[in-house]
Amino acid sequence: MNEADSERIGRSFAARGFELTDSLKAADAVVINTCTVRQRAEDKAISQIGRLRKWKLARPDGKLFVVGCAAEKLGRKYIRNRFPFVDEVVGAKSLDKIEALLPDFPTLPDFPPENRHSVQKHTTGQPSPLPTFRPPTPRLPDSPVSAFITIMRGCSLKCSYCIVPAVRGEASYLAPEEILAEAEAKIAEGAKELILLGQTVNSYRYEGKDGAAVSFPALLKMAAALPGLARLRFMSPHPLFFTDEFFRVFRENPRIGRYIHLPVQSGSDRILKAMRRGYTRARYLDIVAKIREAAPDAAVSTDFIVGYPGETEADFRESLSLIGEAGFSFAYCFKYSRRTDERGLEPDLDEAGMDERLERLLAEVKKNSGAILNARIGRIEEVLPESRDFGRTSANFVVRPERGAELEPGALVRMEITGVVRNALKGRPVP
Ligand code: 5AD
Ligand code: SF4
Repeated sequence: MNEADSERIGRSFAARGFELTDSLKAADAVVINTCTVRQRAEDKAISQIGRLRKWKLARPDGKLFVVGCAAEKLGRKYIRNRFPFVDEVVGAKSLDKIEALLPDFPTLPDFPPENRHSVQKHTTGQPSPLPTFRPPTPRLPDSPVSAFITIMRGCSLKCSYCIVPAVRGEASYLAPEEILAEAEAKIAEGAKELILLGQTVNSYRYEGKDGAAVSFPALLKMAAALPGLARLRFMSPHPLFFTDEFFRVFRENPRIGRYIHLPVQSGSDRILKAMRRGYTRARYLDIVAKIREAAPDAAVSTDFIVGYPGETEADFRESLSLIGEAGFSFAYCFKYSRRTDERGLEPDLDEAGMDERLERLLAEVKKNSGAILNARIGRIEEVLPESRDFGRTSANFVVRPERGAELEPGALVRMEITGVVRNALKGRPVP
């Protein structure tokens, strides 16, 4: 989500004649897009703001923006008190207001366009499999192969540990016409893969003025049919919102990537209940089975939280055993970080206890994903290259070409999988 927001902010700047730069020295404006999903992400955001004091001293005319979820949580007053050199604070609920605050460089005569730069800084607590920087304008020669489209904002669920509903607000859905228009624009810019985004993306439902509603599967079907599109993905669905219609559309539209990131958080029914997730382990496994029934090749990955208050060794083992049972190709694993006042509980594990569980979980994930990667050797896969040296299969496995071979970004290519290198597959193009 944050990445998509960063991209949108980048586009607003680009529309004013700014260019993205990696060089802080060259930047006329800096935007720090902050995350607060775990305390560590918030701490990182704070220290990044602190580090910009020097830049602002050297560039008093430069503009420093602090935006996003941590900005929403901490508030303008707190941030400006602690860091008086920050020019603008824009919380996640009012990101649309950035547009009105953008510096008006084009009117300054001594700022020729080629000297205008903006830097996007991005802090997210989540390790990201995707590059954090995407060129924002169609004018750039190498448009990204894969582009994000936000289809909903906020979240109306109330998972006990989660700060997202507080900083991003209730769920709201974009109109299908708006989504499809943005999708078409991104395809026209060169995108071959679209990733529909939302906190509970499959809860999507839009009631038009005529009373007719567009469901998530109906939207998927329309987007998957857009000319010029090679692949459609979505992130992240929630187990509560799967329908038979979804499984039918998923099965019938092979352009929809055979990969579903489905956060489970815990394998223990007791902990799932305490987290207010709204499903049981059995129900979750039932959804995974239905995904595989619709698309036997599909990969499923997940998120886990370890050390939730009250998690016993037995609960934790239920998370461990779920990895093999669900056959996760990958999992992001997080130590519980207290973000809400839920039951007023501090985690009952100390840091060392959390680390111990995290390591055991990560080792199990690694073992399992190694086996899943190895099982792909010998297969012919359709790969969408994102650069000359890597692409992704429909099931979202990274494939690197064998030594000497190069890929052509954006052009689907059939590859024979010949091996596994670290967390990726190795392959060679075949006719
Ligand atoms: N502590 C640890 N992890 C969290 N997540 C969300 N809130 C917390 C928290 N308080 C994780 C969940 C979610 C992912 C985006 O971040 O696993 O799926
Ligand atoms: Fe947070 Fe739960 Fe909403 Fe995900 S579904 S954003 S974990 S409240």
